[in-house]
Amino acid sequence: MSLDLAPSLADLAADAAVGLQQRFGCEASITAAAPGRVNLIGEHIDYCDGFVMPFAIDRYIVIAAALNGSREARIATALGGEHARIELDQAQKISDPSWANYLRGVIQGFQNRGHHLPGFDAFILSSVPGGAGLSSSAALECAIATLLEGLLDTVLDTREKALLCQKAEHDFAGVPCGIMDQFASAFGKTNRLVLIDCQSGEPELIPFENPDLTVLIANTMVHHQLSDGGYAARRKNTEDGLATIGKTSWRDVSPLDVETHWEQLGSPVNRRARHVVGEIARTISAAQSLAKNDFEALGPLMAASHDSLRDDFEVSCQELDLMVDIARAIGRAGGVIGARMTGGGFGGSTVTLCESSKAPAIAATLAAEYQAATGIRPQIFASRPSNGAHLL
Ligand code: GLA
Repeated sequence: MSLDLAPSLADLAADAAVGLQQRFGCEASITAAAPGRVNLIGEHIDYCDGFVMPFAIDRYIVIAAALNGSREARIATALGGEHARIELDQAQKISDPSWANYLRGVIQGFQNRGHHLPGFDAFILSSVPGGAGLSSSAALECAIATLLEGLLDTVLDTREKALLCQKAEHDFAGVPCGIMDQFASAFGKTNRLVLIDCQSGEPELIPFENPDLTVLIANTMVHHQLSDGGYAARRKNTEDGLATIGKTSWRDVSPLDVETHWEQLGSPVNRRARHVVGEIARTISAAQSLAKNDFEALGPLMAASHDSLRDDFEVSCQELDLMVDIARAIGRAGGVIGARMTGGGFGGSTVTLCESSKAPAIAATLAAEYQAATGIRPQIFASRPSNGAHLL
């Protein structure tokens, strides 16, 4: 199986410019891009002061735009349908089309900073699979924020920009997400993982450039809805757990604390707590192993992460478990180093770290066995750490 290649940024930008011309009859004067992300390890702990280790993938949301001399933004997407119209002289409100709420949220963030935004027309194109747990929403937020920076001829501090985008997701999409996705999309860099200490909010770029290693992303094509309450419920469980244990940060909670409070925490909060404490420790171990170039150590850590997300945090699903089980069956002899679900869960994608020489065969087996068992054709591709949000 030859691996599905990501379209180049130059091609995406050219197509977005054509889209802008066709929809609004104008030439693109500015183009912004922001990537999705995949997380290697550290899941559902960015809102628990944990560590997470994502990277920006080479799949982007690209927005081509031009000033229109009015007081509104008119924004269309390659998916077709009515374009969104956003008044720039008034406070933003959640409305239709719903995809534009991410944009409204970011525009509101810029308005809150006191910026007077110029009217513009824009066309959005994406190579980030949507609903696949690869942060297409964070990519959209970071892309529009980067476009607005360009239109205003200003540059926000990267951390502030990521936090502004996160707030847009909280306030305009109703998802109480952590900081991982927007940080990965904003800070990503070629050949670097974005190790984030979510307590200090400090990202650290760590080298990941061994050509013998490949990261395969397998989209189960089962879509999750983080806003349907499952995500918020997990987050609430962790807040309740921390309060019961009587600490102010999960960073100060030990496995013994969880054990001591097991009955008092009750189910499912006790299992949620065990996941958080275990996953923080696993991510620290993974970072230490990577620093020593010990990639093999990642395998058991990724396996334990998946099992914990499946059994204790209960955010996996049959299709994700199946995809991970297929990778596990291929095993180390077949070139698989580690596999787990990635992102918020309830569907979406798995991440498989493997030997580059065996990646095409592994991808073929994942695709064939998954399709034979489910009747669903998955989307499987390799990705390397890539640059975060930028103007083209
Ligand atoms: C979603 C959220 C992130 C993070 C992950 C789970 O992607 O947006 O903040 O919590 O789920 O790790």
